Amino acid sequence: MNYKKLFIGTGFSIKSADQKETERIYLDSAASNLALRSSQEITQEYLNYYANAHTKVHMAGKFSTELITWTENTIKDFLGVDHTYSVLFLGNGVTSPLNRLAQGLSALRPDKDTVLISSMEHHSNDLPHRVNHKNVMYISGFNEKGDYIGFDLVKIKEQLENSSGKVDYIAVTGASNVSGEISPYHEIAKLAHQYDAYIIVDGAQLVAHAPVSLMREEDPLSNIDFFVFSGHKIYTPGSPGVLVGKKEILARMEPVLYGGGMVSSVTLSDFTVADHLFDKEHAGTLNIPGIISLGCTIMFMQHLGMENIYNKERNLTNYLYSELSRIPEVILYPKGDITNKIGVVCFNLQSIPHELTSLILNDYFGIAVRNECFCSHPFVKDCLVEELWDIDDESDVNLYRGMVRASLGLYTTEEDLNFFLQSIKSIIENIDFYRMQYEIINKTHYKHKTFDNNIKDYFDVEKKIKKYYEKSYS
Ligand SMILES: Cc1ncc(COP(=O)(O)O)c(C=O)c1O
Repeated sequence: MNYKKLFIGTGFSIKSADQKETERIYLDSAASNLALRSSQEITQEYLNYYANAHTKVHMAGKFSTELITWTENTIKDFLGVDHTYSVLFLGNGVTSPLNRLAQGLSALRPDKDTVLISSMEHHSNDLPHRVNHKNVMYISGFNEKGDYIGFDLVKIKEQLENSSGKVDYIAVTGASNVSGEISPYHEIAKLAHQYDAYIIVDGAQLVAHAPVSLMREEDPLSNIDFFVFSGHKIYTPGSPGVLVGKKEILARMEPVLYGGGMVSSVTLSDFTVADHLFDKEHAGTLNIPGIISLGCTIMFMQHLGMENIYNKERNLTNYLYSELSRIPEVILYPKGDITNKIGVVCFNLQSIPHELTSLILNDYFGIAVRNECFCSHPFVKDCLVEELWDIDDESDVNLYRGMVRASLGLYTTEEDLNFFLQSIKSIIENIDFYRMQYEIINKTHYKHKTFDNNIKDYFDVEKKIKKYYEKSYS
C-alpha cells in the first residue's frame, strides 16, 4: 500500500538554501502528524449537512448529533472499552483532558493529596497534577549511576508502599515523546489499583502507532481508568482532545465549565446541572467537524489494522536506530536498550548544537525535525548530564541544552530514512561549510545568513481570500 498518498502534505517540493528543489520530508510526527486525506474530505462533505447538535428536530441537527455519538462509539471500539466508559471531547489537545482530570480527581478525593508521576513525562502530564495536589512523587527513569532503566515496576511498588495510601493516582505516559518507549501501563495500573490509586495514561504518542486496549478481561485489576489523547497526534488536525474514562468516577466529578448545554433547568436564582455525563462535561458548542473527522480517522485506522501499523513502523524505527548507531559521530538518547518503542529517535551529532543540525536539515535537505527539549525538560536533562559536563567553554552550554528528534508517521518510508541518513552524513562531513552559512544570535540561536522560508512563496492567505472575494462578484 502507498501510505504516503493517504495523507495531505506529503510529496511536495520546497526550495533549499542552495537554490535546489527538494521533496519535503516530514520527520516531526511526534509534535503533530500530517492530516489523513480521507477524513478531511469526508468532513468537508459533511459540512453540507452541518448544524449545531443538541437537537433532533431538524434534519442537520439530528445528523450532527448522531455523528457525534457515532464518533464516541468508534473511539470506544478502537480502545476496547465497554459501556462502563465514557468519551469526552475537551479542548484542543491532550493538555485539556489532563487538566480536567487533575482538577476533578483532586477535588474528589482530597485526603489522597499525593500523585505519582514518572520523570519521563511531557510537561502536560506533570504540571496539571503538580498544581492540583499537595505532594508529587516522581518515578525516575534512571538508576543511581545515571543509566536509563525506563519504567521500573519494583520502584513503583516501593513508592506506593511508602505513600501510606495517600496516592490519588499514577500519571504515566503510554509512550514517551523522548525515548519512544512504550510503558508497561497495564502492569502499572494493576499496582495502582492494589493501593487504591487510579491510573491516568497519557496516550498522546501511543494512540496512532500501536494497538491499545484499555480493558483486560482476564485481569480487570489492570484496566486503565483514564486514557487521554488528541486528534492532531492521530492524523486529524483541527479535532479536539479526548478523555476516555470510567463513567462511574467521572460522574462524581464536579463540572469545571459552566454555560449552555450542561444544565437541565435554570431560574434566576438557581440552576440544575444535567444528569447525563456527556452533557454535564460539555458546556458550549462542541467542535463538531473536528469530532466527526476524528471518528473518520479512527475508523480508517481500524481498517488499516493497528497491529499492521505498529509492525510497519517498528521495522522502520529499528532500521533508523541501527543505521544511526553505526555512525560514530551520532549520540543516541537515552543510552540503554529499549525493545518496545514507537518511531521516536532522539540524538545529537558530536560537537554540533542541536539547533544547527535541525536548521541544516531543513534549509539544505528539506527535512523537518524538532529540536530542544520537547516540553520534557527533566527527562532531556537526565539524558544530557554527561555531555554537558564535558563542554569546555561554559558559554557554549546553552547551545547544547537539547537534542534533535526524528519522529515517524504512517507516511514515512525507507527512502525517506535513507535520505535522512545521507543528509546526516553530509552534515558531519561538511560541517565547516555549513557553520559558515549561519550566524549565532545571543549565544543561543542560529540563523542562516541569507536564506529563509517565506510563507507567501507557498501559501499567500490574503491573496487567496481576495481571489475568492473577487470571484463572488464576477
Ligand atoms: C507525551 C505527550 N503528552 C502530552 C502532550 C501535549 O499534547 P497537546 O499539545 O496535544 O496538548 C504531548 C505533545 O507533544 C506529548 O508528546
